[in-house]
Amino acid sequence: MAKQAQIGIYGLGTMGSALALNMADSGFDVAVTNREADWIASFMSEAGGLAGKLHPQDELADFVASLATPRVILFMIPSGKPMDMMIEAITPHLEPGDTIIDGGNANFHDTRRRSALLAEQDLHFVGMGVSGGESGARHGPSMMVGGTDHSWAQLKPVLRAIAAQFEGDPCVDHLGPDGAGHFVKTVHNGIEYAEMQVIAEIYGLLRNGAAWTPAEIGQMFTDWDKGSLKSYLIEISGKALQYDDPVTGHPVVDVIKDAAGQKGTGRWTVVEAVRMGQAANMIEAAVGARSWSSEKATRQEAEAILGGARGAITLGSATMAEAFLAARILGYAQGFRILTAAAEEYDWPLNYGRIAEIWRAGCIIRSAMLDDISEAFQSELPAGQLILSPHFAKELARCVPALREVVAAAVTGGHAAPALCAALSWYDTMRQGFGTANIIQAQRDFFGHHGFERLGEDGKHHGPWWD
Ligand code: 6PG
Repeated sequence: MAKQAQIGIYGLGTMGSALALNMADSGFDVAVTNREADWIASFMSEAGGLAGKLHPQDELADFVASLATPRVILFMIPSGKPMDMMIEAITPHLEPGDTIIDGGNANFHDTRRRSALLAEQDLHFVGMGVSGGESGARHGPSMMVGGTDHSWAQLKPVLRAIAAQFEGDPCVDHLGPDGAGHFVKTVHNGIEYAEMQVIAEIYGLLRNGAAWTPAEIGQMFTDWDKGSLKSYLIEISGKALQYDDPVTGHPVVDVIKDAAGQKGTGRWTVVEAVRMGQAANMIEAAVGARSWSSEKATRQEAEAILGGARGAITLGSATMAEAFLAARILGYAQGFRILTAAAEEYDWPLNYGRIAEIWRAGCIIRSAMLDDISEAFQSELPAGQLILSPHFAKELARCVPALREVVAAAVTGGHAAPALCAALSWYDTMRQGFGTANIIQAQRDFFGHHGFERLGEDGKHHGPWWD
């Protein structure tokens, strides 16, 4: 074969195809293949002028043989069992020093297991989170890489060339070993879930409590999409709400069933947070809200029995915007707390400022605030908490009163706002230097002789109820 490809992509679904085209567009020779061989021809015919940089192979052995060594092979296939099956199929064709990348939304525990397995054969396994959907993959995704230094040295030129750029800085980096990249992507998705839910709740309050039309709410989000509120999720929500359904002529949101899907990353974020003694209550609220959303029949029955009337909401765009900003700060902060806990548990050298930087373009949670977050992480944070940085503490002081007004109106009016309520509860809990767990300890000791610490004294004590 005349020319050896610099990278191979296995899996020509939406994301794999888009990444292959992006790499070819950036001047790389890319070997491509797919489990269903007939997809390869249709992909090649759609590649147009880029076809010359794409080298299709029907057989796995030929695909591997067409790659320059040490090889780099990116798998863009469904996560879980298919990845294990492909590792088994491809490893006999590989040589020490080759790298396999899983670019799917994989569970980081699987990534750690696979990395250890391949390391036994001197092979390298990279878990890479890719964010930005199809258009990001084609024109510039944000990528979170976990793996060895050897793999990063192999991958770096390609990934930096295809990544989204934020003011000339490619939104990709090597974040740590084995599962670090997939873990960071999982938490990215957790934050994504929380933010989407907060947007949905604000939409619901204005729609159901103030009779705003979808187009009016969409226009409001579009108006918000500048300055400190600027973000991709606000932008697309603004746009989506202003579309009409071509079939019925109604706003398109009115014909979309109110039952949200979820593939697992949001849930994993919550599970891992709880396992590590954290409580990311906004993310949990968002995951829970998606689960409740899928209980449509039950909700319909409940509305008939329990009554669905909602009180009026008289708050306008300015209050909603400040409440949203407060919730966004708290949502990101919860995500970074989980990253901190994982860095400690797995001994990952996570650089939080850099993570915020590579989320500034290309990914789904990109927003103007990430610049401030990366800056906040450049200095020492009180108690390591983002919400205590001088900038965010001040922003919260400014915006939480609006969040309080919105939550109060939602609760009084009987509107569901689980993520907004969670945001406020967390904020209020964290600013309570003396909380209420003293009575929890008293209860535990009362019924179970569990003991408690006395203020300012070491050791275990029991209450007078045991005397
Ligand atoms: C991204 C997205 C993307 C996708 C997830 C979440 O960063 O590009 O997070 O990975 O949206 O699969 O999907 P669910 O909402 O289906 O869990």
